[in-house]
Amino acid sequence: MSQPVQAPQLDRTNLTRMEMGALDAVVNVSDGHARQDLSPSQGRIIHGLAELFRRAAGLTYPELDVRAHDAFFHALGQHASPIGSGRILSCYASSVAMEIVARALADTIRSVGLIHPTFDNIPDILRGSRLDLVPLDEPKLLGGDPAELFVPPVECLFITTPNNPTGAVLARRQLADIAAACADRDAVLVLDSSFRGFDRRAQYDHYTVLDRSGCRFVLIEDTGKLWPTLDLKAGFLVYSRNIRLPIAEIYSDIMLNVSPLILVLIESFARDAAAGGLETLHDDIACNRAQLRDALTALPVTFPDRDSVVSVERIRLDADLDGRAVTDRLRDVGVHVLPCGPFHWADQAEGARFLRIALARPRATVNAAASGISSVLTSML
Ligand SMILES: Cc1ncc(COP(=O)(O)O)c(C=O)c1O
Repeated sequence: MSQPVQAPQLDRTNLTRMEMGALDAVVNVSDGHARQDLSPSQGRIIHGLAELFRRAAGLTYPELDVRAHDAFFHALGQHASPIGSGRILSCYASSVAMEIVARALADTIRSVGLIHPTFDNIPDILRGSRLDLVPLDEPKLLGGDPAELFVPPVECLFITTPNNPTGAVLARRQLADIAAACADRDAVLVLDSSFRGFDRRAQYDHYTVLDRSGCRFVLIEDTGKLWPTLDLKAGFLVYSRNIRLPIAEIYSDIMLNVSPLILVLIESFARDAAAGGLETLHDDIACNRAQLRDALTALPVTFPDRDSVVSVERIRLDADLDGRAVTDRLRDVGVHVLPCGPFHWADQAEGARFLRIALARPRATVNAAASGISSVLTSML
């Protein structure tokens, strides 16, 4: 009689699991969620929560939804977004929006070209819908000939801009060229712009460019990376009129509405952002980045993303050290960072020498992380 065969043990470790392990850490610079202190004006909004609750209870959901969209998209320069058209769908989080997009794509599409590297839950969600993924190297994607992105042929391009973890941004001209190439081939262009709020260079009006191209497009926008609202957030799933994918149908399989209270909170934080809050946030992130870089200058590390202004920073280990080994040693002393291997979802070895540090944290947390990294690296050299 034949014995049952033991299924091979799969390595299911992903970045989110590592981030979960950091939730009770002394120094958590692991996940990219917004955990910095509230600014004084944000503090005043939170102080008025009871009034926001009353407002949320007193208006209709469609009214609150459109008000939140209006405040958020305009604050980030997206003036031609289809506010009020029904083609902006509010989701609990951008991962939920992504799951809906993946399932909708799988209706008619098999192959997706996906930016490489990027946050690993994007390939995981797309693969979960049985889509075949082709890695698109970030430099080629952001600066090369768009025609090359379709060799081998793909029916959809998925681009994270600004990218996580590199902070690289798709410029207006390149977006126009890629969108035109998609329109020529009837391919779908999906952009994840969850980190848009950190970078003015990503705040040109994408919807004008995309509408002009005539391509089929989907955008995922996110309030969750920006403001320290204890994960009271939303992902917005936006799509073109000509999309020909069952997005609205699949949305209704999963979602009815997000919390009205979250919508009024988003509206208030977005209005605060437009009235100077965005600059304050940018200054804070820039200061945290400078502190981290300064604290590590004497060590054999470099910062490859010189132009990045997003809320994460990559560190390259120039000595012969493995990112995972350093991450493990740091965890032993209570400092949680991410190793970058999993961001390189098609070839983890490419990211083996890199760490990612979250910067949307109180200054003291970033300084504690820098000092932990400094002593651990010194002990490993
Ligand atoms: C680019 C990008 N998109 C989407 C997500 C998912 O965000 P959430 O956990 O809020 O669903 C992440 C998470 O870090 C991300 O980096």
